[in-house]
Amino acid sequence: MVSSRESQTKSFEAALAADRARVNERIEALVSALVRAPEPLAEAIRYVLLGGGKRLRPVLCMWTHDALGGEERDAALDVGAALECLHTYTLVHDDLPCMDDDDMRRGRASCHKRYDEATAVLVGDALQALSFEIVATLPARHEGLAAGAALYVSRVIAQAAGTRGLITGQALDLSPGSLERTEAAVENIHRHKTAALISASMLCGAILARADAEVQRRVREAGTAAGLAFQIVDDVLDIEADASTLGKTPGKDAAAGKLTYPGVAGVEAARRRARELVDEARCLMAPEQESGLVRLLEYLTERER
Ligand code: IPE
Ligand code: IPE
Ligand code: MG
Ligand code: MG
Ligand code: MG
Repeated sequence: MVSSRESQTKSFEAALAADRARVNERIEALVSALVRAPEPLAEAIRYVLLGGGKRLRPVLCMWTHDALGGEERDAALDVGAALECLHTYTLVHDDLPCMDDDDMRRGRASCHKRYDEATAVLVGDALQALSFEIVATLPARHEGLAAGAALYVSRVIAQAAGTRGLITGQALDLSPGSLERTEAAVENIHRHKTAALISASMLCGAILARADAEVQRRVREAGTAAGLAFQIVDDVLDIEADASTLGKTPGKDAAAGKLTYPGVAGVEAARRRARELVDEARCLMAPEQESGLVRLLEYLTERER
């Protein structure tokens, strides 16, 4: 006899797999329509974009949209593809020798290892531009979507991707020696380098669902809490997981002297803090309890890769 929790888990997993497949298809179609590059750049763009990845930011965007009763699912899928292009660019650059110097990503050679450093820099640059091209062309692809909504979405993504978000986070992450080894300092890095884009992904879904300002504020806050939890778990997995499950080299953070949550507070406290943050996010989304979104927020900390 299948318990109701088991059958809920099955349907959650099936829904997640189905939307991941939709995201992959849409990325493939958008790359074919919009990318014009010489070899090996064109091949490298496909290599990084279509080689695995959990697709969590696109799915967060789509499921937030759905949870709020939105009617622009196809546009949310496009914005999800744009978010994934941006996220993938950050991974390609994060792996470069001048940054984290990682040889493995998503279970394969990282971009600069498979190709070369110049190609990896250009792939990242191309993907960032592609992300905004996808958003700017939304009204042309989706009749009925106001140009104002696309403009708002592009502002949200730009702010998360730039110096008010990810770039500042990466800058702080790369100079851990200049920071105090405290939970507050770690949280400040995590907020910028990871939570900003995760929160933006959920907010974009809310914007496309035409949520009002109060709901947008709630979604943004839930996204920040979920994003902080997500990066804490990434730090824990760097300590506890093996390379074949993780798809990237474990143990890199300690070796590089990175400022991480488990590094400062220990693994137990880190896992506890991640659960606390996810509870915060789930409480904020309590009115949307019945949607898959709340289950997805839990999954962010339960994942094994
Ligand atoms: C890795 O992100 C980088 C972090 C912000 C922790 P993901 O864990 O979402 O990586 P992919 O997209 O699944 O490879
Ligand atoms: C990544 O943080 C944050 C980014 C914005 C790319 P990490 O450096 O911990 O990510 P992984 O562990 O390499 O995926
Ligand atoms: Mg890094
Ligand atoms: Mg890294
Ligand atoms: Mg990491």
